[in-house]
Order: sequence, then C-alpha cells, then structure tokens
Amino acid sequence: MTGDLGPGNEIRINGDGGDDRKAPPGVVVIFGASGDLTERKLMPALARLAQYKRLPDEFRLVGVARSHLSDEEFRRRFPAGPAAEAPGLVENMRYLSGDYDDPDTFHRLRDLLDSFDRDAGTAGNRLFYLATPPQAFVPIIENLAAAGLNEPGSPTGSARLVIEKPYGHDEASARDLDQRIHAGFEEDQVFRIDHYLGKDTVQNVMALRFANTIFQPIWNRTWIDQVQITVAETLGVGTRGGFYEHAGAMRDIVQNHVLQVLALALMEPPASFAPEALRNEKVKLLQSIRHPADGDIDRIAVRGQYTRGGTSGDLMPGYRDEQGVDPLSRTETYAAMRLDVDNWRWAGVPFYVRTGKRLPRRVTEVVLQFTRPPHLPISAAQVTGLQPDALILRIQPDEGITLRFGAKVPGHSFRVRTATMEFSYESTFREESPEAYERLLLDALIGDPTLFIRSDEVLQSWRIVDPIIEHWANSTGRIPLYEAASWGPDEADQLLARDGRAWH
Ligand code: NDP
Ligand code: BG6
Repeated sequence: MTGDLGPGNEIRINGDGGDDRKAPPGVVVIFGASGDLTERKLMPALARLAQYKRLPDEFRLVGVARSHLSDEEFRRRFPAGPAAEAPGLVENMRYLSGDYDDPDTFHRLRDLLDSFDRDAGTAGNRLFYLATPPQAFVPIIENLAAAGLNEPGSPTGSARLVIEKPYGHDEASARDLDQRIHAGFEEDQVFRIDHYLGKDTVQNVMALRFANTIFQPIWNRTWIDQVQITVAETLGVGTRGGFYEHAGAMRDIVQNHVLQVLALALMEPPASFAPEALRNEKVKLLQSIRHPADGDIDRIAVRGQYTRGGTSGDLMPGYRDEQGVDPLSRTETYAAMRLDVDNWRWAGVPFYVRTGKRLPRRVTEVVLQFTRPPHLPISAAQVTGLQPDALILRIQPDEGITLRFGAKVPGHSFRVRTATMEFSYESTFREESPEAYERLLLDALIGDPTLFIRSDEVLQSWRIVDPIIEHWANSTGRIPLYEAASWGPDEADQLLARDGRAWH
C-alpha cells in the first residue's frame, strides 16, 4: 500500500496540541521507585520525554521507596544513553527512603517539593505516581493528603495522582479505594492508568471508526457476525509469581486491557474526543454488557493453567513450578469467554475474548468477522474454503490492519479464494510511535485525562468479571490445563464450537 501523504492530509481528531506537546514545569514523584515497573517502564519513558525535549529545564524527578538507596544509586536506574543527553534532569534526581505509614516520609517529601518550587521553578505542579503493589496505595494517598500534598504547591499549580493497576481486586474493594481517594482528592486529580490506552494502535481503533465514513455503516449486528479479541503472550509470569497468584488472567488482563479495547471497538460514536464525552460512551458500552447468571458461567467462560511444555530445546516450566507460585495453585493463566452486549447495535452478536500466558505467539488483535453473503450467484464448489470477510485490527506486534475478503482466482474458471489487503504502520508512516508509558506520562503531566480510566469505568469492568472470578474461586472442579506454547485448553475451543464457530 502507498505511504502516508504527509501532514497536509492529516486531521487532528482530539485537538491535543500536536506532536510539539511539552510538559509544564513540575515534579514527578514515583512511589515504589526501587521496583520493576519504575526500572523497566517509567525511567525509559521519562528518558524518552527528556531526549525529545518534552520536559522543561524546570522539571524534577523524585523516587520514594522503603529500600535504602543513595541519590546516586537511584540516578543509575535512569537509562545511560539518554542520561548523557539530559544531564540537568539526572543530576537533580532525588531519592527519599521511607515508610508509607510514617507521616515523616511525607513531611520530608513536602519540604523537598517546596524547595524545588522555590529554587528550581517547578511552579507547584506535582504528579504522584503510585508504582507500588496495591496494598501501599491507601497509606500513600492518606498520608499525602494528611501532609497537604493533595493541594497544589501554588495557586496556579496542580496535584495529580497516577494510580497503577490493579485498581481493587473486585467491585467492592475498588469502591472502597475510590472512597478513600476521594476523601483527599477530587476525581479530576486522579489518573487511573491502563497502558493499553497509550498504544497508538489502540487509539487507532477510534481513528478508524470515527475519522472515516466507510466503516460506520457496517459496524453493527446487521453486518458483523462475531468479534474476537485476543491478548496472547509467550512470556510466563517471570518474577511476578507472588503478585500473579492473587491476580490471575482475569484480573491481570481481562478486567482492564481487554475490556478497554472492547469498549473502544463497540461504543457509540462520541460527540467529541473531550475526556468526558469519550469516557461516557465507554461506560455506556460497559453497562450494556450482560451480567452472567451463575448457572451460565460454565457455558460462557473457560479458564486454564499452563503446564510444562515447549520444544526439547526450549522447554518451559509449568506455572506451578514458577518462582513465588503455590505448587497446588488454582490460579488461571488463561481466560476466555463469550460476552453479549444488550443494545440495539450489538444484540445477538457474540464477542469472544481470550488471553493467556505461555501461548505460542505474542499477538493482540481484534477480529471483526462479517456475515456471509445472503446469496451466492456461484456454486459452493467455486468458493470452497473461502473464509468469511473480516477486518483484523493488529494491535501488536506487526501493528496494522488486515482486510480479508474473497477475490477471483486468476484463470479461465470462476473460482473465489481468500485474499487480504494489508495496512502496516511501519511501512505507511514515517513517524515513530511513542511507548505507551511515555505517551500517558506526558498526558498526565499536561493534565489530559482522556486516555485514563474514570472511576465508573473501573466499577463497571469489575461488575462484568466479578461473578466469573467468584464462580471459579468456589468451584472445586479441576482447572483445565494446557501445555506451555499451546493455544490454551481444549475447553476454549469447545466454547466457540458450541456456537458453530472457531478461534481466528
Ligand atoms: P514491585 O513488586 O517491583 O514493587 C515496587 C516497589 O514497591 C518495590 O521495589 C518495593 O520497594 C515496594 N513494595 C513492595 N511491596 C511493598 C509493600 N507491601 N508495601 C509497600 N511497598 C512495597 O512492583 P512492580 O514495579 O512490578 O509494579 C508496581 C505496580 O505497577 C503494581 O501495582 C503493579 O501491579 C503495576 N504494574 C506493573 C507492571 C510491571 O510490568 N511490573 C505492569 C503493569 C502494572 P521497597 O521495598 O524499596 O519499598
Ligand atoms: C500488564 C500485565 O498489565 O500487561 C502483565 O500485568 C502483562 O502481566 C502486560 O504481561 C502486557 O503488556 P504488553 O504491553 O506487553 O501487552
């Protein structure tokens, strides 16, 4: 396909200020600064923002955690290459060691932030990033508020919270967390992160649907037969076994990433991309997802857990042999289910979603499969093996879109065979995609909540998955197993086979 035609052929659909966006003066405070997320995602994201000159000179970075680290040791967590390009930022990085239950930690933090406002021009803008395990969220939030850090450091400044997932472990605990946050912070100060929304290809679901006319007329139950969403990972749980044991695939991926992608793909067109307009449509869609009755759950949801598998040269351990995992664990590392959306656009269309660790291929995609033609003017033999038309949104890797349709096979006879038309991000656009965390950190620094999750969205998402998680927790039956590097348990194939369908 041809490449893009350049900026002259571009429309800006969210009026977001364009690619020259820059953070205002301010401070990012990372709680959990000694951890995995900080090192693997947040530091590289900040480094890229610095490299691309999106952080002003009046910008400071503070790490907080319980471990004893010197400022110098903390600075070494910043990627070396970019550090050389942003010497001012790195030299001024500060690390505070302290307990989150101890008010003194927050008094020391406040003094440091005040000194930055006085001496470094950070203008009273503070972004507190909670990159700790969730049990630390409440003490941090309560002590921030007790120290007055829920208020900006100046009359024109800001005080914002970025909260990592998981946001609660069910609807009740998410509600409780909300209440505790709202005791000190207004909802517009709260940025609940789901890094999938920071991916260009996820945002492209909206571009595709709402910046074009050709898809909207067919984006409904009349033309779409089924939709499948897959989030497949080749990785196992790695060093995060302890965390994963309490999460499982449903809480780790379905409740957030999968339901967010689903909401963007199925919601009604928002009147604008103003944060509330967009988030209102996502909530309405999530509210329309049918709440499964307990008696239906075994019919619509399947779980699985990986066992040892792979090739002899690359044999991978089973989940129960992973570090930090109970040898008798019943935690699911795979989840698949059928969802139904009870509204005029989607009534009767099945939505199949699946996610799993240790699957054969890393792939995230949304497949919209269209209905068959109502009448074929040719014989069945001429279309043998023809797959139904489909639009495949390739979220990652190999980002792009595939349109699958039937085309005439060259030759004297009239035979039709499946063909595809491909759009690839890499070969079409010259621009580079920002990393998801880079994009979202900048949004939070600027104060744009469009790609963050509102409280009611989180609660709706828990409403959908809670009954299934509870049903599995109470079930005494064996958990279906699948070998590492296979496509999940047989039960997941049966889930679709019962409806006369198969996974893409
Ligand atoms: P870690 O387990 O690495 O924890 C981060 C830091 O928090 C640790 O270095 C530790 O620092 C501190 N910590 C650990 N346990 C506690 C506790 N009980 N109370 C207070 N502090 C504690 O977590 P990650 O960095 O992996 O994840 C951080 C957050 O980000 C989590 O909410 C996670 O769910 C989320 N997340 C992580 C992803 C990842 O890829 N890692 C991806 C998506 C979300 P110290 O002991 O020095 O205080
Ligand atoms: C995180 C999950 O939210 O997303 C991880 O906690 C998972 O378990 C990760 O591996 C997947 O993200 P990505 O961007 O690699 O698809």
